[in-house]
Amino acid sequence: MAASSPNCCSVLITGCSRGLGLGLIKGLAEASNSPELLIATCRQPEAAQELQELSKKYNNIRILQLDIVSEESRQKLVKAVTALVGAQGLNCLINNAGENISASLDDVTAEHMLHIYETNTVAQLMVTKAFLPLLKQAAQQNSGMGWHRAVIVNMSSISGSIQLVPDDKLFLQVYPYRISKTALNMLTKCLAEDLKVDGILCISLHPGWLQTDMGGNQAPMQVEDSVPSIVSLIARLREEDSGCFLDWKGEIVPW
Ligand SMILES: NC(=O)c1ccc[n+]([C@@H]2O[C@H](COP(=O)([O-])OP(=O)(O)OC[C@H]3O[C@@H](n4cnc5c(N)ncnc54)[C@H](OP(=O)(O)O)[C@@H]3O)[C@@H](O)[C@H]2O)c1
Repeated sequence: MAASSPNCCSVLITGCSRGLGLGLIKGLAEASNSPELLIATCRQPEAAQELQELSKKYNNIRILQLDIVSEESRQKLVKAVTALVGAQGLNCLINNAGENISASLDDVTAEHMLHIYETNTVAQLMVTKAFLPLLKQAAQQNSGMGWHRAVIVNMSSISGSIQLVPDDKLFLQVYPYRISKTALNMLTKCLAEDLKVDGILCISLHPGWLQTDMGGNQAPMQVEDSVPSIVSLIARLREEDSGCFLDWKGEIVPW
């Protein structure tokens, strides 16, 4: 990463019990320009053993409880984070938590669709709304655009790309998931447009097909293969990136 990249004080990531969220916390903790505060949220902090171990090793990690679909949980978290970040606000929110259900056209039900829409799209909007005052607070203290000011990263997926639908028949097995990610991409576009005036940048990110509980063991990449690129990409984000759908290498993914 360029030594001239301005620093970020605080990052909050959802879904850090395992998979990519855990990997991102580790990658950010190990980075040469590690933020002062890494807020790792998960549904059951006491059960997140690896994350607990990591927080013993790096003193900038704080673990806080969040079930992204619960309003009560979101409000409790905002209170706790406000106390942690103080007047500096929150510089970077990574909406990483998500869920997949395998459901083809034959199998898919209304319950599948609504459940995944709530977890992968509605919750990201509600978590973002809950943290907007803290993101705006951080943005007020700097100029330009980037993670030194305020950034929202929505963890999307290439399966949500409408243009790429004919390219991968495998994604026809995950109707609820891919449709929820397409909707998440629309959320990214709306947020980028709405929050431009506040100096808050927003992107959708495809992290690569990774070996996690969700990605499965056929995936060509490990979390560790993608995380350094993601960390570097987020630190390099600039005004022209806002409202874009990027992959872990920083390349544009077609909508
Ligand atoms: N892996 C891939 O190949 C791939 C590709 C493209 C995009 N992505 C995206 O990357 C993100 C992370 O995926 P992953 O592969 O790391 O998945 P994963 O291994 O299945 O982990 C999912 C994480 O989300 C959390 N989560 C689920 N529902 C939640 C809720 N209601 N509240 C709070 N946390 C919740 C889980 O927490 P619990 O431990 O409590 O269940 C877990 O920490 C997802 O948004 C996914 O769509 C992944």
